[in-house]
Amino acid sequence: MSINIAIDGPAGAGKSTVAKAVSAELGYIYVDTGALYRTIALFITENNISDENIPTEIKNADVSLKFVDGVQKVFLGDRDVSGLIRTPEISMEASRTSAIPAVREYLFGTQQKIARENNVIMDGRDIGTVVLPEADVKIFLTATPEERAERRYKELSEKPDCPCYEEILSDITERDHNDMNRPVAPLKQADDAILVDSTDLTLREVVDTIIRIINQKTGR
Ligand code: DC
Repeated sequence: MSINIAIDGPAGAGKSTVAKAVSAELGYIYVDTGALYRTIALFITENNISDENIPTEIKNADVSLKFVDGVQKVFLGDRDVSGLIRTPEISMEASRTSAIPAVREYLFGTQQKIARENNVIMDGRDIGTVVLPEADVKIFLTATPEERAERRYKELSEKPDCPCYEEILSDITERDHNDMNRPVAPLKQADDAILVDSTDLTLREVVDTIIRIINQKTGR
């Protein structure tokens, strides 16, 4: 039986950085499910698909994940779109279209299959509540919206056309609202998930905390 670790939480809480570091240390595969929703958003945008046509068109999306030296790459058909999906427009479109039931149904099977076949650390919004309700360990990783915006601002401030702090904070707040208030699979802490608040912790402290929780729960 494979070991499944679920890490859920809001945008910018550091889930992917933390999950990558933890999976490298424990030798698990890291699955970033947000990349799947972003790829569907790219497919919808590139093909100008209206919301009412998504349920019929989505089966043509052909989204797949490949792991190259432990690093996840996401493909649309035979095109590696791992870079293309990281724009503010796709972030917002992914948040919007991930509320559409046909999108969630389409990606549900993909995520469950990977978890059945591998030891995984899977991050997202509904992994502990919907995708892997039987996960061995569930973590809910969060931080205040201001701290998340501050981290994102620092990450982007080297780049030209960097959005201002207020713009980043407003994007984060809007995405939190969308993700927490959609009727299907909203972002929320599973009853049996352990809350880790990273607001005042360093990356190393968060990684160590999560590894300690995983080792305790899996008896390593
Ligand atoms: O984690 P991320 O920011 O890359 O995710 C992009 C969007 O995809 C996010 O706003 C909500 C959606 N998402 C989701 O609904 N369920 C998941 N398991 C992962 C992401």
